[in-house]
Amino acid sequence: MLDQLEIIELNDQLQDADPKEILNQLVALLPNTAISFSGAEDVLLIEFTQNQTKPPEIFTLDTGRLHPETSRFIEEVKNHYGRSIEALLPNQEKVNILINNKGLYSFYKDGHEECCNIRKVEPLRKKLKHLDAWVTGQRRDQSPARAAVPIIEIDQIFSSSEQQVIKINPLANWSSAKVWKTIRRLNVPYNKLHDRGFVSIGCEPCTKAIRPDQHEREGRWWWEEATIKECGLHRDNTADS
Ligand code: ADX
Ligand code: SF4
Repeated sequence: MLDQLEIIELNDQLQDADPKEILNQLVALLPNTAISFSGAEDVLLIEFTQNQTKPPEIFTLDTGRLHPETSRFIEEVKNHYGRSIEALLPNQEKVNILINNKGLYSFYKDGHEECCNIRKVEPLRKKLKHLDAWVTGQRRDQSPARAAVPIIEIDQIFSSSEQQVIKINPLANWSSAKVWKTIRRLNVPYNKLHDRGFVSIGCEPCTKAIRPDQHEREGRWWWEEATIKECGLHRDNTADS
């Protein structure tokens, strides 16, 4: 358990550290930690833990609605790094009920929350029950909602009275430009959708390519208000408190 004071101190101490150093220190402090890999630029989290003596496990939320390119990329990353990536699947009965009642594209009519809850949030909640911390690729430059994302925080969505869940965001201070410069310099594999104008990548029906003048989040859930574009995974970024 970390208290708020320790979280503040760790954030102060790691403010100028690079992501690899952050991962080294925080995985040593919280060994029961896993990387949450979306199949996009967060591949750097895997790259930066590759030389750790006991690298953290990796999981991906396999929503069943990913682009084929993303599924292929996840396999490529497994082979490239020789690490396994656990696919967390949604509860099939809940998926069946949703699509039989409302069809495959209900989110265009009544919002992405219901589908994201079934396909992403619930499988993640189940996984986090067995972890002390999870590592995400969130960055402050990704959206106004993420402008204050700390390096380490108590996860307000997934912690409960019985369990504290820590969320680690080692790339919080990095810009998109720095991420891409590093991917190129280290010759890290990347999702081929990035070559076709996709910047922020999620599920196929809810992600589109953007023009150079658009903000990356404009390619996600584009039919919804910008203020509700956080899905349940990171809803704490938009919480009032
Ligand atoms: S989202 O909430 O809007 O979908 P985003 O795509 O920006 O999030 O990704 C931010 C971070 O959330 C990723 O770097 C990753 O750590 C985690 N994440 C998002 N989607 C997934 C996924 N399908 N599987 C695993 N982790 C994910
Ligand atoms: Fe469903 Fe779209 Fe959310 Fe994927 S991003 S879980 S398809 S609503």
